[in-house]
Amino acid sequence: MSETLLVTGGAGFIGANFIRTISELRPTWRVVTLDKLTYAGNLDNLEAVEHTFVHGDIAKRPDVDGALASAGTGAIVVHFAAESHVDRSIQDGAPFLHTNVVGTQVLLDAARAHGVKRFVHISTDEVYGSLPEGEFRDENGTLNPSNPYSASKAASDHLVGAAVNTHGIDAVITRCSNNYGPYQFPEKLIPLMIANATNDKTLPVYGDGLHQRDWIHVRDHCEAVLAVLEGGRAGEIYNVAGRNHMTNLDVLRFLLGALGKPESLIRHVQDRPGHDRRYAPDDQKIERELGWKPRFSFDESMRATIEWYGQNARWVKRALSGEYRQYYEEQYGERLKA
Ligand code: NAD
Ligand code: TYD
Repeated sequence: MSETLLVTGGAGFIGANFIRTISELRPTWRVVTLDKLTYAGNLDNLEAVEHTFVHGDIAKRPDVDGALASAGTGAIVVHFAAESHVDRSIQDGAPFLHTNVVGTQVLLDAARAHGVKRFVHISTDEVYGSLPEGEFRDENGTLNPSNPYSASKAASDHLVGAAVNTHGIDAVITRCSNNYGPYQFPEKLIPLMIANATNDKTLPVYGDGLHQRDWIHVRDHCEAVLAVLEGGRAGEIYNVAGRNHMTNLDVLRFLLGALGKPESLIRHVQDRPGHDRRYAPDDQKIERELGWKPRFSFDESMRATIEWYGQNARWVKRALSGEYRQYYEEQYGERLKA
């Protein structure tokens, strides 16, 4: 059956990869994109992809009404739009509450008014907080967010749950681990370190570098979102993982090895305040219920990702516009001098 999707945050990293995945796997579906085009939103990410673009803020009801009217009754909302970078949330939490919390509530209210068929909310494994060695969290795990970004995402998950319980809205939630792949804004660990290593610049690892993340290729995440959109049970939450746990230092050593650069480029810098030590989602439910599991190996798809950034230097240059340079100075200027 052909569907119409309203994709929020479609000009960002995962949203754009998702729209590209849909255009390939569900070519008859129609896509309306709603995006505010913050520093992280870039229409270059959707070059040559068919979609209707609406420029607007998810926290502003008239913007959302306009986008939903364009999508029409019975559309499916796939909600990626967010402020997504932990370090920025530590510098200033307010935009995170505006978009992640207020924006999600405005979208939920509008979705109800416009007769949306399903609401797919994209969340994160960070809502479970930092986990002790050896422990994994399934979807019943207590939420224990510990930075302004993850707290705002946990709040948005609760708002979606409240809309299901109060209004009977058909919503599903995904909670994925750390993504890598093409079109990721070069402030996040992987694209930042690829860019720095390529240019023989220092790789600033926070603290001892032994913090652990589960890494997943963005295409795997996008296919998981599609599986949940089509087959997830209403009101349910699905964790999504790449089943690939690594310390930050091991990730950096892999990147340096693949690029043929020396490990001496790694520089330990002052730790992120309140830095979560370990995220580890248990993703058995999505495999059991929907038959989804990650298909991409870290080694091969990280090498392909490195190659993509190498071949898309113009994209990187355009993404690194004035605002980002100012942020970089604030984030690393003092740390690199210390
Ligand atoms: P991103 O920062 O690359 O993109 C966010 C997009 O949302 C941008 O295009 C931006 O312009 C848009 N946006 C921001 N505020 C908006 C607003 N008020 N109204 C409309 N659009 C707005 O983020 P991403 O990495 O693609 O993450 C997408 C989603 O996936 C987020 O909800 C994030 O929490 C979640 N997530 C990300 C990861 C990851 O590793 N990146 C992992 C798990 C979950
Ligand atoms: P990030 O990509 O910001 O994702 P998140 O914090 O949401 O997991 O960072 C991934 C890990 O890399 C995290 O433990 C913080 C660490 N990190 C560094 O050590 N140095 C850096 O410059 C950045 C951006 C991140």
